[in-house]
Amino acid sequence: MTSFLSEDNSVKAVLDRIDPATCPPRFAEIMTALVGHLHAFVKDVSLTTEEWEIAIDFLTRTGQKCSAERQEFILLSDTLGVSMLVDAINNRRDARATANTVLGPFHVAGAPELAMGANISLDGKGETCRFIGRVLDLNGAPIAGARLDVWSDNDEGFYDVQQPGIQPKWNNRGIFTTGADGVYDFIGIKPVSYPVPVDGPAGEMLTGMGRHPFRPAHTHLIVTAQGYHKLVTHIFVGDDPYIQSDAVFGVKESLIAPFEPCTDGQTAWQCPFDIVLAPKSA
Ligand code: BEZ
Ligand code: FE
Repeated sequence: MTSFLSEDNSVKAVLDRIDPATCPPRFAEIMTALVGHLHAFVKDVSLTTEEWEIAIDFLTRTGQKCSAERQEFILLSDTLGVSMLVDAINNRRDARATANTVLGPFHVAGAPELAMGANISLDGKGETCRFIGRVLDLNGAPIAGARLDVWSDNDEGFYDVQQPGIQPKWNNRGIFTTGADGVYDFIGIKPVSYPVPVDGPAGEMLTGMGRHPFRPAHTHLIVTAQGYHKLVTHIFVGDDPYIQSDAVFGVKESLIAPFEPCTDGQTAWQCPFDIVLAPKSA
């Protein structure tokens, strides 16, 4: 048993208090690593008392910024790359399957279920774009009954829920279900880049680090089908100025889709993008 805490024995002093009789093994494992890394960090930077107070105030204000509509801790996790790291560890899939990326705070359950070909842009603003592709299994066979829940910002870079009363409810949102051919096909807009919310501690951190708050233009999708892993992903616009510096580290090369000028006269752009789901059995 250690005696009192000193600079030299600080980790051991805390860890000796874990009671294996009552502490579940996984919690003990997590707390052991957490205390070890946290103390190493404090020692690494020789944290001053003033800096410790700033950190406590920062975390306090992060909590105070949270509400039913705002999750500042997740935004902090996103902008520190932790959300994407957790996502990577928990979604180690076959390389042929479409990659996962961050969910973000703007998904709303219960969007309208629409027929293939429908237009989700209810305000009629922005550059129209036809999104078309197939939902496939790892062998390239179409998946029938796949559900695509899609959402994007409007032409000014805001989601409908950020502008209630300004944008129509469910603007740029919809749910589509594939038939036997696995094809999905809908009209939306070519999305635009936008900043993550910066009016809180996460924004202060970005400014302090000399970082911009922008996400490159993307359309969100959640794709589910019976027997397959749920896919949470984006389709990115490749020529976006922020494609190499996404504020939340969500970009993956394989999620950059072609946005091509459309020649059928119906939409300005078309975006062909096939989606591949990984089976739960693999
Ligand atoms: C989004 O893409 O909607 C998003 C993701 C992470 C933080 C903020 C926004
Ligand atoms: Fe987004």
